[in-house]
Amino acid sequence: MTIRFDGQVAIVTGAGNGLGRSHALQLAARGAKVVVNDLGGSVHGEGGSVSAAQTVVDEIVAAGGEAMAHGANVCKADEVADMVKATMAKWGRIDILVNNAGILRDKSFAKMEENDWDAVIAVHLKGSEVCTKAVWDIMREQNYGRIIMTTSSSGLYGNFGQSNYGAAKMALVGFMNTLCLEGAKYNINVNCLSPVAATRMTENLMPEEMLALLKPELVTPAVLFMASKEGPNRAVIAAGAGGFARAVVLETEGMAFSEEDATPENIAANWGTIADAATGKEYKGGNEQTIKFLTNAQKVRG
Ligand code: NAI
Repeated sequence: MTIRFDGQVAIVTGAGNGLGRSHALQLAARGAKVVVNDLGGSVHGEGGSVSAAQTVVDEIVAAGGEAMAHGANVCKADEVADMVKATMAKWGRIDILVNNAGILRDKSFAKMEENDWDAVIAVHLKGSEVCTKAVWDIMREQNYGRIIMTTSSSGLYGNFGQSNYGAAKMALVGFMNTLCLEGAKYNINVNCLSPVAATRMTENLMPEEMLALLKPELVTPAVLFMASKEGPNRAVIAAGAGGFARAVVLETEGMAFSEEDATPENIAANWGTIADAATGKEYKGGNEQTIKFLTNAQKVRG
């Protein structure tokens, strides 16, 4: 099976550099018409020019592909609406959205200013919501869509100095969970990528030998898989240096107590059992947790 995107249209945000550029190039190489979006700002989100996006468009066209540049700021609904309108006018459909645009404002929480928090939440979380909202009805009407959020190990597991970034990135996993439920009947799959790659965002964080292994091109196959007809729904795929894994949220089976025994002391006394990850299960919706507690409560009460 060869994964191809002939006849499909993809929007990749923040595609003027790094991972987004790699996703755009590889989607185009496999037949997709690609909107290369980029504001063209610094890694901290300052300044802007559409030239970063145009350079990637030129690369795609030189390789025989089809692409257009758009400089929308993903946080601004009017600019994103303009991008979606231009895409529909040119190509008439939108099959794939890769929410990739991002910035960093790293500081320990003690030193973090409100504007560092707000700027990072705005680009990653609000930006992904604005772009998703702009294509959602189009995908529903087409009865087809593939949306990819870009999360991070900083959100899934934490990273010193990235409370703003980690919060935004984990929020995207929550956003995905509900979109999967609401999009399922319209054949809209939503997944998350948790990448590790050498880009301008990470160039000062690791030694040269490590960066050499972490080519963005080795992350993009996970995006192509998630963007394909055959792709999964509600997966968080971690990818780096040619390695691929799935991250999951598990909940332990836990323990149920009678009304009299539901005390903090009993939780403390049984914490080893309650917290035992070996009993962990994956839930497909919040109601599964409610059902577990109600079922176990009935058992305890006889
Ligand atoms: P990058 O800085 O090379 O690329 C990000 C791009 O987003 C830039 O071209 C920038 O101009 C664009 N952008 C920023 N704000 C924008 C806005 N408001 N509207 C439109 N475009 C905007 O960084 P990289 O590493 O390629 O990051 C891509 C994504 O992957 C980000 O969401 C990042 O948080 C995420 N990520 C990257 C990791 C890595 O190891 N490089 C690790 C985990 C997540």
